[in-house]
Amino acid sequence: MLDVKGLDVRYGRTHAVKGVDLNVAEGEIVTVLGANGAGKTSLLRALQGAVRPASGTISLDGKELSAASPAARVASGMMLVPEGRQIFVSMTVHENLQMGVYLRSDGDVARDLEAVYDRFPNLAERRDMKASVLSGGEQQMLAIGRALVGRPRLIMLDEPSLGLSPLFVSRLFDLIVELNKSGISILLVEQNTTMALDVATRGYVLELGRVVIEDSAAALSTNTALTEAYLGGGNETSALTTTGAQA
Ligand SMILES: Nc1ncnc2c1ncn2[C@@H]1O[C@H](COP(=O)(O)OP(=O)(O)OP(=O)(O)O)[C@@H](O)[C@H]1O
Ligand SMILES: [Mg+2]
Repeated sequence: MLDVKGLDVRYGRTHAVKGVDLNVAEGEIVTVLGANGAGKTSLLRALQGAVRPASGTISLDGKELSAASPAARVASGMMLVPEGRQIFVSMTVHENLQMGVYLRSDGDVARDLEAVYDRFPNLAERRDMKASVLSGGEQQMLAIGRALVGRPRLIMLDEPSLGLSPLFVSRLFDLIVELNKSGISILLVEQNTTMALDVATRGYVLELGRVVIEDSAAALSTNTALTEAYLGGGNETSALTTTGAQA
C-alpha cells in the first residue's frame, strides 16, 4: 500500500532521515521505533507532505505522491495524527472534529461525525465544550477522531501514547487494534516499544535517521540487545531518554 524508497530529509546541515526504505501492506500495523531525535517525526512529516524530502519516493497504491500537496495525500487516504495531538484548545470538541472534514467533498460528513461520537462517548458528552477541558487521553481521542472524519485508509500516529496515563495507554492501543480490524492500515511511531510491538505485525528501528533493524514484531520483541542499544533500555527507562535529548 505505502511504499517509501530512499527517503532523505534535510534541514540545512541536519540530515534527519537517511535513505529510508519502508513499506506498509494493506491491513498491516507497522511500527517505527527509535530514541529521541532518531528522525521519526521527520519521516512522518515527509510522508504527510509538510516537509519536502531532499530525495526519495513515496507512493500509495502505486501512485507517486512525492510531489503531491498534503491535501492531495489526505484525499488519497493518508492521515497523520501529529506528535503532541495539535488540537485547537480554544475551539469546541465539535469544531475540532469539523477540521477533519475540510478536505472532504464526498459523502455524508454528518454521519461520519456521528460515527466518531459513537466511538468516543466522552467526546459526544463534551461536544460543545472547549477542547481545553479534555484530559490528555481525551485530547488524543479527539486528535484520532478528527483523522477518522477524513475517512483514512492509512493512519500515521506520532507517539500517541506520550504523556497518557496507563489506563489511557491501554485504551489507545485497543483502539489502534480496533481501527486496524475495521480495515485501516496503521503506521505507528512509538517510544513505548513493548506496547507497539504487541499490536504491530512488523517494525523498523531508526537510529540517527537510518533504518538499523527491520523485522517482524515477534522477533523484535524478543531482541533485548535492540532495546538496549537503540531504544535506551526499554519502556521503564524511556523517560530517561526523553530527558536531555530535546534540549
Ligand atoms: N524543523 C527542524 N529544523 C531543524 N532541525 C530539525 C527540525 N525538526 C527536527 N530537526 C532535527 O532532526 C533530527 C530528527 O528529529 P525528529 O523530530 O524527526 O526526531 P524524533 O525521532 O521524532 O524525536 P522525538 O522522539 O524527540 O520526537 C533531530 O536532530 C532534530 O533536532
Ligand atoms: Mg518526534
